[in-house]
Amino acid sequence: MTSKYLKIEESNGLQYLKIDNPLAQATVSLQGAHVSWWRPKSTTEDVLWLSTDARFEKGRSIRGGVPIIWPWFGQHPTDNSYCIHGFARVIPWELVKSEDLKNGATKLLLRMVPTQEVKKQLSYDFSLELIIIIGESLSTNLTTTNNASFPFVISEGFHTYFYISDIENIKIKGLESAVLTDKVNNFKKDIEGDVITFSGSEFDKVYLNNSNDCFIEDEKFNRVITVKKSNSNSTVIWTPGENKAKKMGDMGAEGEWRRMVCVEAVNALENNVVIYPGKSHTIGSEIAVQEY
Ligand code: BG6
Repeated sequence: MTSKYLKIEESNGLQYLKIDNPLAQATVSLQGAHVSWWRPKSTTEDVLWLSTDARFEKGRSIRGGVPIIWPWFGQHPTDNSYCIHGFARVIPWELVKSEDLKNGATKLLLRMVPTQEVKKQLSYDFSLELIIIIGESLSTNLTTTNNASFPFVISEGFHTYFYISDIENIKIKGLESAVLTDKVNNFKKDIEGDVITFSGSEFDKVYLNNSNDCFIEDEKFNRVITVKKSNSNSTVIWTPGENKAKKMGDMGAEGEWRRMVCVEAVNALENNVVIYPGKSHTIGSEIAVQEY
């Protein structure tokens, strides 16, 4: 099956799936199965943030859109030379199937192609598939299957960058009273008191044992973005702040970082997932926008 709304383009040795259907437009990089852009046709502003300095190069993660975190979160537990947040976002995936749905959305099925480097970093047998549905909402479902003869443990998630009017204009709701680990404060445990607002400095917290949906309220853009989660028990909220953004080197022009916030549907730290032999596990996220 092939979608009539899909075109495959090549640039700089990498392949991109370009979707333009009655409901939305999107670009998906086959390297990393990375949705770098998605915009429902009904919205006034972009929904995902993509840095103007994003590098579309072999082996590099794209700064913006929806990078995939898998099979570890942050640094590798024992080897710092391995890619932060795992290798899924920087290695090749293949398009298995594309399909037009009755409601006008486009469904893509992608599968990771394990490279020699991957086999070195993860010796056990697995398969990893991603279903992306591009429509009025953007849904992503990542399925890990254990083909080995013993259980293994993974972190996983969607490191989504959202486009906002300004970091100091927004509120994030849904995580009130959640237990958190503050990465900026030496992984100190705390409890979120209230709706989240930002001062403009670095904010990097992992909310644990929490499967709530999140809402990004942006009064300047007159909209609420909803991030629905399924089988995700942690949520990361991240903004780099001025100093870290400067050091990172791919966050765009001065002040561009202020127009993004990451709300990441993940399973990380104590919410890592054990997958038993012959079993599969799927984490999902669905993003939608409501303008008012
Ligand atoms: C967040 C982490 O998920 O990703 C932050 O909590 C990290 O600590 C950020 O800085 C960006 O990571 P990367 O590897 O894409 O630069």
